[in-house]
Amino acid sequence: MHFTVVALALSSSFGLAAGSCVPCRDGNWQQLAPIPVSSRQEHTTVALSAETLAILGGVVPDGNFISTTDIMQLYDIPSNTWSSAPSLPLPMNHANVAAVGGRVYLLGGLAVAPDGAWRAIASSWVYDPKDNAWTSISPMPNGTARGSAAMGVRGTSIYLAGGMTTLDVTGGGYQDSVTTVSVYDTTKGTWRTLSQHLPEGRDHAGGAVVGSTFYVLGGRYFGSGGNRDTVLSLQLDDHRATWQSLARMPTARGGVSAATIGTKIYIFGGEGNKAEGSDGVFNETEVFDTASGTWEELRPMRLPRHGTSAVAVNGRIYIPGGGIYEHAGPVNTTDMFCPGH
Ligand SMILES: *[C@@H]1O[C@H](CO)[C@@H](O)[C@H](O)[C@H]1NC(C)=O
Ligand SMILES: *[C@@H]1O[C@H](CO)[C@@H](O)[C@H](O)[C@H]1NC(C)=O
Ligand SMILES: *[C@@H]1O[C@H](CO)[C@@H](O)[C@H](O)[C@H]1NC(C)=O
Repeated sequence: MHFTVVALALSSSFGLAAGSCVPCRDGNWQQLAPIPVSSRQEHTTVALSAETLAILGGVVPDGNFISTTDIMQLYDIPSNTWSSAPSLPLPMNHANVAAVGGRVYLLGGLAVAPDGAWRAIASSWVYDPKDNAWTSISPMPNGTARGSAAMGVRGTSIYLAGGMTTLDVTGGGYQDSVTTVSVYDTTKGTWRTLSQHLPEGRDHAGGAVVGSTFYVLGGRYFGSGGNRDTVLSLQLDDHRATWQSLARMPTARGGVSAATIGTKIYIFGGEGNKAEGSDGVFNETEVFDTASGTWEELRPMRLPRHGTSAVAVNGRIYIPGGGIYEHAGPVNTTDMFCPGH
């Protein structure tokens, strides 16, 4: 297989005080209850509250290959247990998902096209736990549909940078990386495409909004090399601002997952590792402190993987599923990383 399947990087954080019942030592990894029903990768993870996470869509093992799923499941942090939730409106992988105000916004992503390739769909929906149902919202504007965008939330607005419109898993492995930057206003229900395109296209990158700044870290492009180590920032308050380059990542990688705590953006794993014995997967945990503009290397992943999606809640980072081999290899393993401070 010549295609590459990797992670949607998505970040989110909660600052509320409450404890997880599973103990975890600072700077260490802790294994949690595995995802029931099926292993998963290319899904998206978000936090609905300080106690509840949701994982959406992705790909699941299917005979010798993988298939795209519409499954949504909830993880309860205090009891370390999983439950099921209403399915997505259709099977999707690399979905762009963010939680705002306890609702889940699914803003486009990749779906299986009639020719079997994974192609972007613009359709978008919101899931409100109060109604326990999905409702259609404004689709991504013409020409901006994509999956695997780097995302960040600022107040009630969801920012998306880059992503991909095609991943041809049927052969050849053609894929692309776009430079599109857009914002969805959850209060008005409207989309806006920013004039500040990314200087370099990328998908499967890390994303976060910290304060009033949108950060995009690493990611992938289709071509020789493939992995980016560049870190970009855009000041969201200044409409004339342009993307700025910051300190490069210690390890260039795409297919990462990202989570934010305070001023720090944690970047986990990834795909495209050429090191012998790595199975093409990175184990690195590296943190970028937006306050100092510097990187620090932390304890590698307990189980290295790509194609997963991380979320931070109360100073702990949850990483369900992901792929343990280049391309595919979905697992049901759920890990927690406890950075301490
Ligand atoms: C998780 O995956 C492993 C390996 O495939 C399997 O043995 C185990 O039963 C799975 N656990 C659950 C809860 O599905
Ligand atoms: C999107 O583009 C297509 C083709 O260019 C056009 O037919 C359609 O009206 C456009 N839709 C919107 C909402 O602008
Ligand atoms: C992390 O992966 C590299 C190969 O990319 C390997 O050399 C190193 O031993 C791994 N570290 C741990 C702690 O497993």
